[in-house]
Amino acid sequence: MDDDNYSLAVPFYDLWHEDGHVPMIREVLPPLLKGVRRSVMEIGAGTGLITRVILEETPAEVYAVEPSFGMRSVLVNRLAEDPDALSRVTVLPCGALEAEADEPVEAIVMISVLQSFDAEQRPELWRTLRRQLEPGGLLLFNWRERTNPEPGELEVVGSYRVGRHIYEVAGQVLAVAGESVKARYVYRVKQCGMVMSEDEVVSVGHWPAGERLFAELEAAGFARDAAPDGMQAWRVLK
Ligand SMILES: C[S@@+](CC[C@H](N)C(=O)[O-])C[C@H]1O[C@@H](n2cnc3c(N)ncnc32)[C@H](O)[C@@H]1O
Repeated sequence: MDDDNYSLAVPFYDLWHEDGHVPMIREVLPPLLKGVRRSVMEIGAGTGLITRVILEETPAEVYAVEPSFGMRSVLVNRLAEDPDALSRVTVLPCGALEAEADEPVEAIVMISVLQSFDAEQRPELWRTLRRQLEPGGLLLFNWRERTNPEPGELEVVGSYRVGRHIYEVAGQVLAVAGESVKARYVYRVKQCGMVMSEDEVVSVGHWPAGERLFAELEAAGFARDAAPDGMQAWRVLK
Protein backbone atom coordinates (compact mmCIF):
# COMPACT_ATOMS: atom_id res chain seq x y z
CA MET A 1 0.00 0.00 0.00
CA ASP A 2 1.63 3.27 -1.09
CA ASP A 3 -0.30 5.53 1.24
CA ASP A 4 -0.42 3.57 4.49
CA ASN A 5 -2.40 6.03 6.59
CA TYR A 6 -3.45 3.22 8.89
CA SER A 7 0.09 2.69 10.21
CA LEU A 8 -0.05 5.85 12.34
CA ALA A 9 -3.35 4.70 13.84
CA VAL A 10 -2.18 1.19 14.75
CA PRO A 11 -1.36 1.77 18.45
CA PHE A 12 -4.79 3.36 18.89
CA TYR A 13 -6.78 0.98 16.69
CA ASP A 14 -8.01 -1.70 19.10
CA LEU A 15 -8.57 0.82 21.92
CA TRP A 16 -10.77 3.02 19.75
CA HIS A 17 -12.64 0.40 17.77
CA GLU A 18 -13.36 -1.90 20.73
CA ASP A 19 -15.25 1.22 21.81
CA GLY A 20 -16.86 1.56 18.33
CA HIS A 21 -18.14 -0.85 15.67
CA VAL A 22 -16.46 -4.05 16.90
CA PRO A 23 -18.85 -5.00 19.78
CA MET A 24 -21.84 -4.57 17.44
CA ILE A 25 -20.20 -6.74 14.76
CA ARG A 26 -19.50 -9.44 17.36
CA GLU A 27 -23.27 -9.64 17.91
CA VAL A 28 -24.59 -9.44 14.34
CA LEU A 29 -21.94 -11.34 12.36
CA PRO A 30 -22.12 -14.85 13.95
CA PRO A 31 -25.73 -15.64 12.87
CA LEU A 32 -24.87 -14.52 9.32
CA LEU A 33 -21.93 -16.94 9.22
CA LYS A 34 -24.07 -19.91 10.23
CA GLY A 35 -23.55 -22.75 7.75
CA VAL A 36 -20.23 -21.38 6.42
CA ARG A 37 -17.78 -24.24 6.86
CA ARG A 38 -15.03 -24.31 4.24
CA SER A 39 -13.62 -20.91 3.33
CA VAL A 40 -13.93 -17.20 4.05
CA MET A 41 -12.10 -14.24 2.54
CA GLU A 42 -11.89 -11.25 4.88
CA ILE A 43 -11.27 -7.94 3.13
CA GLY A 44 -9.35 -5.36 5.21
CA ALA A 45 -8.72 -7.66 8.17
CA GLY A 46 -6.93 -4.86 10.04
CA THR A 47 -5.50 -5.99 13.38
CA GLY A 48 -7.59 -9.18 13.32
CA LEU A 49 -10.45 -8.25 15.66
CA ILE A 50 -13.04 -9.55 13.17
CA THR A 51 -10.77 -12.39 12.00
CA ARG A 52 -11.05 -13.74 15.53
CA VAL A 53 -14.87 -13.70 15.30
CA ILE A 54 -14.76 -15.62 11.99
CA LEU A 55 -12.38 -18.20 13.50
CA GLU A 56 -14.59 -18.66 16.55
CA GLU A 57 -17.83 -18.93 14.60
CA THR A 58 -16.77 -21.16 11.69
CA PRO A 59 -14.36 -24.07 11.12
CA ALA A 60 -13.39 -22.41 7.82
CA GLU A 61 -10.02 -21.62 6.31
CA VAL A 62 -9.63 -17.81 6.15
CA TYR A 63 -7.86 -15.61 3.57
CA ALA A 64 -7.21 -12.35 5.44
CA VAL A 65 -6.54 -9.53 2.96
CA GLU A 66 -4.72 -6.56 4.52
CA PRO A 67 -2.61 -4.02 2.60
CA SER A 68 -1.31 -1.95 5.54
CA PHE A 69 2.05 -3.17 6.89
CA GLY A 70 1.28 -1.81 10.36
CA MET A 71 -2.18 -3.35 10.65
CA ARG A 72 -0.96 -6.63 9.17
CA SER A 73 1.87 -6.81 11.70
CA VAL A 74 -0.61 -6.78 14.59
CA LEU A 75 -2.81 -9.30 12.76
CA VAL A 76 0.02 -11.82 12.29
CA ASN A 77 1.19 -11.35 15.88
CA ARG A 78 -2.38 -11.99 17.06
CA LEU A 79 -2.47 -15.21 14.99
CA ALA A 80 0.88 -16.26 16.48
CA GLU A 81 -0.76 -16.54 19.92
CA ASP A 82 -3.06 -19.33 18.70
CA PRO A 83 -1.83 -22.45 16.81
CA ASP A 84 -5.34 -23.12 15.41
CA ALA A 85 -5.51 -19.57 13.98
CA LEU A 86 -2.00 -19.92 12.51
CA SER A 87 -3.02 -23.10 10.70
CA ARG A 88 -6.26 -21.67 9.30
CA VAL A 89 -5.48 -18.07 8.29
CA THR A 90 -3.50 -17.11 5.18
CA VAL A 91 -2.62 -13.40 5.21
CA LEU A 92 -2.62 -11.74 1.78
CA PRO A 93 -0.46 -8.58 1.85
CA CYS A 94 -2.42 -6.69 -0.80
CA GLY A 95 -5.58 -4.67 -1.41
CA ALA A 96 -8.98 -6.15 -2.22
CA LEU A 97 -8.62 -5.49 -5.95
CA GLU A 98 -5.44 -7.60 -6.11
CA ALA A 99 -6.62 -10.42 -3.81
CA GLU A 100 -6.84 -13.95 -5.24
CA ALA A 101 -7.90 -17.00 -3.25
CA ASP A 102 -6.57 -20.37 -4.46
CA GLU A 103 -10.17 -21.59 -4.95
CA PRO A 104 -13.48 -19.67 -4.91
CA VAL A 105 -14.63 -19.03 -1.32
CA GLU A 106 -17.98 -19.63 0.38
CA ALA A 107 -18.18 -16.18 1.96
CA ILE A 108 -16.51 -12.78 1.97
CA VAL A 109 -16.57 -10.57 5.08
CA MET A 110 -15.74 -6.87 4.72
CA ILE A 111 -16.17 -4.85 7.91
CA SER A 112 -15.62 -1.07 7.96
CA VAL A 113 -13.66 -1.11 4.69
CA LEU A 114 -16.25 -0.04 2.09
CA GLN A 115 -15.44 3.64 2.72
CA SER A 116 -11.94 3.07 1.28
CA PHE A 117 -13.37 2.70 -2.25
CA ASP A 118 -14.69 5.66 -4.19
CA ALA A 119 -17.62 5.49 -6.61
CA GLU A 120 -15.30 4.86 -9.57
CA GLN A 121 -13.47 2.00 -7.86
CA ARG A 122 -16.54 0.23 -6.47
CA PRO A 123 -17.74 -1.51 -9.68
CA GLU A 124 -14.26 -3.07 -9.94
CA LEU A 125 -14.46 -4.02 -6.25
CA TRP A 126 -17.82 -5.82 -6.73
CA ARG A 127 -16.54 -7.59 -9.89
CA THR A 128 -13.39 -8.73 -8.07
CA LEU A 129 -15.30 -9.97 -5.02
CA ARG A 130 -17.83 -11.75 -7.20
CA ARG A 131 -14.99 -13.56 -8.99
CA GLN A 132 -13.59 -14.74 -5.62
CA LEU A 133 -16.95 -16.22 -4.54
CA GLU A 134 -18.33 -19.62 -5.52
CA PRO A 135 -21.82 -19.68 -7.15
CA GLY A 136 -24.37 -18.80 -4.44
CA GLY A 137 -21.50 -17.45 -2.27
CA LEU A 138 -22.22 -14.87 0.42
CA LEU A 139 -20.92 -11.29 0.69
CA LEU A 140 -21.29 -9.72 4.17
CA PHE A 141 -20.44 -6.13 5.01
CA ASN A 142 -21.57 -3.39 7.37
CA TRP A 143 -23.33 -0.34 6.00
CA ARG A 144 -25.89 2.22 7.16
CA GLU A 145 -27.74 4.96 5.35
CA ARG A 146 -26.36 8.16 6.82
CA THR A 147 -26.83 11.88 6.45
CA ASN A 148 -23.75 13.80 5.47
CA PRO A 149 -21.88 15.34 8.40
CA GLU A 150 -21.02 19.06 8.47
CA PRO A 151 -17.45 20.35 8.49
CA GLY A 152 -16.55 21.31 12.05
CA GLU A 153 -13.92 21.78 14.74
CA LEU A 154 -11.47 19.14 16.01
CA GLU A 155 -13.11 17.14 18.83
CA VAL A 156 -11.84 14.35 21.07
CA VAL A 157 -13.68 11.18 20.00
CA GLY A 158 -11.91 8.65 22.22
CA SER A 159 -9.63 8.68 25.26
CA TYR A 160 -8.09 5.54 26.80
CA ARG A 161 -5.81 4.93 29.75
CA VAL A 162 -2.74 2.80 29.04
CA GLY A 163 -0.77 2.56 32.29
CA ARG A 164 0.30 6.11 33.22
CA HIS A 165 -0.50 7.46 29.77
CA ILE A 166 -3.67 8.56 27.96
CA TYR A 167 -4.14 7.58 24.30
CA GLU A 168 -6.41 10.17 22.71
CA VAL A 169 -8.08 10.28 19.28
CA ALA A 170 -9.51 13.55 17.97
CA GLY A 171 -11.41 13.96 14.72
CA GLN A 172 -12.72 16.70 12.49
CA VAL A 173 -14.70 16.78 9.25
CA LEU A 174 -12.86 19.11 6.86
CA ALA A 175 -15.01 18.97 3.72
CA VAL A 176 -17.94 17.07 2.23
CA ALA A 177 -18.48 16.52 -1.51
CA GLY A 178 -21.35 14.21 -2.45
CA GLU A 179 -20.72 10.83 -0.78
CA SER A 180 -17.09 11.71 0.02
CA VAL A 181 -16.01 13.08 3.39
CA LYS A 182 -12.53 14.49 4.00
CA ALA A 183 -11.60 14.13 7.66
CA ARG A 184 -8.61 14.86 9.86
CA TYR A 185 -7.62 12.62 12.76
CA VAL A 186 -5.06 13.48 15.44
CA TYR A 187 -3.58 10.66 17.53
CA ARG A 188 -1.96 11.81 20.80
CA VAL A 189 -0.24 10.12 23.69
CA LYS A 190 -0.38 12.24 26.86
CA GLN A 191 1.24 12.06 30.25
CA CYS A 192 -0.09 14.26 33.06
CA GLY A 193 -1.88 16.38 30.41
CA MET A 194 1.34 16.95 28.41
CA VAL A 195 1.46 15.72 24.81
CA MET A 196 4.31 13.19 24.41
CA SER A 197 3.58 12.28 20.78
CA GLU A 198 1.18 13.49 18.14
CA ASP A 199 0.44 12.16 14.64
CA GLU A 200 -2.03 13.52 12.15
CA VAL A 201 -3.83 11.73 9.32
CA VAL A 202 -6.05 13.34 6.69
CA SER A 203 -8.15 10.85 4.73
CA VAL A 204 -11.17 10.76 2.46
CA GLY A 205 -13.95 8.21 3.09
CA HIS A 206 -16.81 7.36 0.74
CA TRP A 207 -20.30 6.64 2.10
CA PRO A 208 -22.63 5.61 -0.74
CA ALA A 209 -26.40 6.00 -0.42
CA GLY A 210 -28.43 2.77 -0.42
CA GLU A 211 -30.03 3.35 -3.78
CA ARG A 212 -26.69 3.64 -5.53
CA LEU A 213 -24.98 0.85 -3.58
CA PHE A 214 -27.79 -1.64 -4.18
CA ALA A 215 -27.89 -0.82 -7.90
CA GLU A 216 -24.11 -1.39 -8.13
CA LEU A 217 -24.39 -4.79 -6.43
CA GLU A 218 -27.32 -5.89 -8.60
CA ALA A 219 -25.43 -4.79 -11.73
CA ALA A 220 -22.47 -6.90 -10.57
CA GLY A 221 -24.64 -10.05 -10.28
CA PHE A 222 -25.49 -10.10 -6.56
CA ALA A 223 -28.95 -10.60 -5.02
CA ARG A 224 -29.86 -9.20 -1.61
CA ASP A 225 -30.34 -11.56 1.33
CA ALA A 226 -31.81 -10.88 4.78
CA ALA A 227 -29.52 -9.15 7.28
CA PRO A 228 -29.99 -7.30 10.59
CA ASP A 229 -29.83 -3.51 10.88
CA GLY A 230 -26.33 -2.23 10.11
CA MET A 231 -25.34 -5.27 8.03
CA GLN A 232 -25.75 -6.21 4.38
CA ALA A 233 -25.85 -9.78 3.03
CA TRP A 234 -25.71 -10.41 -0.74
CA ARG A 235 -25.40 -13.67 -2.65
CA VAL A 236 -23.81 -14.29 -6.01
CA LEU A 237 -26.51 -15.35 -8.47
CA LYS A 238 -26.02 -19.00 -9.49
C1 LIG B 1 -11.35 0.62 9.69
S1 LIG B 1 -10.20 -0.64 9.34
C2 LIG B 1 -11.20 -2.10 9.61
C3 LIG B 1 -10.38 -3.29 10.05
C4 LIG B 1 -11.19 -4.51 10.46
N1 LIG B 1 -12.02 -4.98 9.37
C5 LIG B 1 -12.04 -4.19 11.65
O1 LIG B 1 -13.26 -4.02 11.51
O2 LIG B 1 -11.47 -4.07 12.78
C6 LIG B 1 -10.06 -0.60 7.57
C7 LIG B 1 -9.03 -1.58 7.06
O3 LIG B 1 -9.17 -1.67 5.64
C8 LIG B 1 -7.88 -1.73 5.07
N2 LIG B 1 -7.93 -1.28 3.67
C9 LIG B 1 -7.81 -0.02 3.18
N3 LIG B 1 -7.87 -0.04 1.84
C10 LIG B 1 -8.04 -1.33 1.48
C11 LIG B 1 -8.13 -1.99 0.22
N4 LIG B 1 -8.07 -1.32 -0.93
N5 LIG B 1 -8.28 -3.33 0.22
C12 LIG B 1 -8.34 -4.03 1.38
N6 LIG B 1 -8.25 -3.44 2.60
C13 LIG B 1 -8.09 -2.12 2.65
C14 LIG B 1 -7.04 -0.82 5.96
O4 LIG B 1 -5.65 -1.06 5.82
C15 LIG B 1 -7.60 -1.15 7.33
O5 LIG B 1 -6.89 -2.21 7.93
